[in-house]
Amino acid sequence: MISTRDELADREGERPATAHAPAAAPAPLNTSSTAPVRFDATEEESKRIQALAGSTKGWVRLARLLMHQPHLAVHAAKTALRGANAGLRADHTLSWLIHVDTVRQVIPNGGMGATWGGLDTFMGLVAKHVSRSAHALELGCGGGRVTRHIRPLVGTLVANDVSERILAEARAATTDLAPIDFRVTYGLGDDLRDQEFDAVIGHELLMQFDFDELLRFCSNIRRSLKPGGLFIASVYTFDDSGEIAQHMGMIRDHGAGARSPFRVHRMPRRTYEDIFEACGFDIVEAQRSRPEEYQAKKTPHTNFVLRRRVEA
Ligand SMILES: C[S@@+](CC[C@H](N)C(=O)[O-])C[C@H]1O[C@@H](n2cnc3c(N)ncnc32)[C@H](O)[C@@H]1O
Repeated sequence: MISTRDELADREGERPATAHAPAAAPAPLNTSSTAPVRFDATEEESKRIQALAGSTKGWVRLARLLMHQPHLAVHAAKTALRGANAGLRADHTLSWLIHVDTVRQVIPNGGMGATWGGLDTFMGLVAKHVSRSAHALELGCGGGRVTRHIRPLVGTLVANDVSERILAEARAATTDLAPIDFRVTYGLGDDLRDQEFDAVIGHELLMQFDFDELLRFCSNIRRSLKPGGLFIASVYTFDDSGEIAQHMGMIRDHGAGARSPFRVHRMPRRTYEDIFEACGFDIVEAQRSRPEEYQAKKTPHTNFVLRRRVEA
């Protein structure tokens, strides 16, 4: 039988190499009083602790901890690796460049999203609603896959993404087309200029953001549109009863997000509609992509055509 302490150490991956290894030296504790540990800081001590915690960088405090308790080094290294993995999922630069690198292991001149497919319904809506003379923005153009389809349909095109490296991919994929103004962007559209565009087009972009981020991003997109301008966006939605349960099955069998190295959010369609309406858009049209449009099995996309509401 192992003790609770052993079970915990085992779970944390800190179990000693052999069962007979001597126990690690205990962490230095306050041994000056009769009680082993003191939990009753004075007000002055509390202030000093808060000041230290607030003023010192996390990594400096970690270095100090490891100096005092070197046996925590393995635990710290494992935590750092887990953090790096989570960081990759959350970061929109390296994770996509890693994706491109993976594609190129199989297709030497392959581009971001070579396996994704799924553009017919989306591009059908762009062709139907956006004027041929429009000054348009493609948000999150990635490797230029959708940019290639959008460019011939609009008058002038700005395409943005979060890194120069990603934009270099898009530039290389569109050299045969009319000029495109590629711009690096940051944050959640805070850098977009007021009322610049007739249309903003974002394919497979919004699912990277959570509820609050979407409220901010969509408000900024609205601000960047001329009055009456259009926002055309695809998201992953649950529309029909049973779809969430089906998705739960996937999570049960494969683990949450296990198939995706990227951060992906899925919400009921109604929730997206509420967000768009709260951010000042009217819903002009919404169409679900057809499953046969995709080369890989995916949560269905809903493609929204939204119009910047003109205030009364
Ligand atoms: C799933 S990829 C889609 C790329 C392309 N639209 C397509 O469908 O092939 C998402 C893209 O959004 C970009 N992205 C992430 N955050 C962004 C942001 N805040 N502003 C603009 N683009 C962003 C990512 O770098 C990535 O290239």
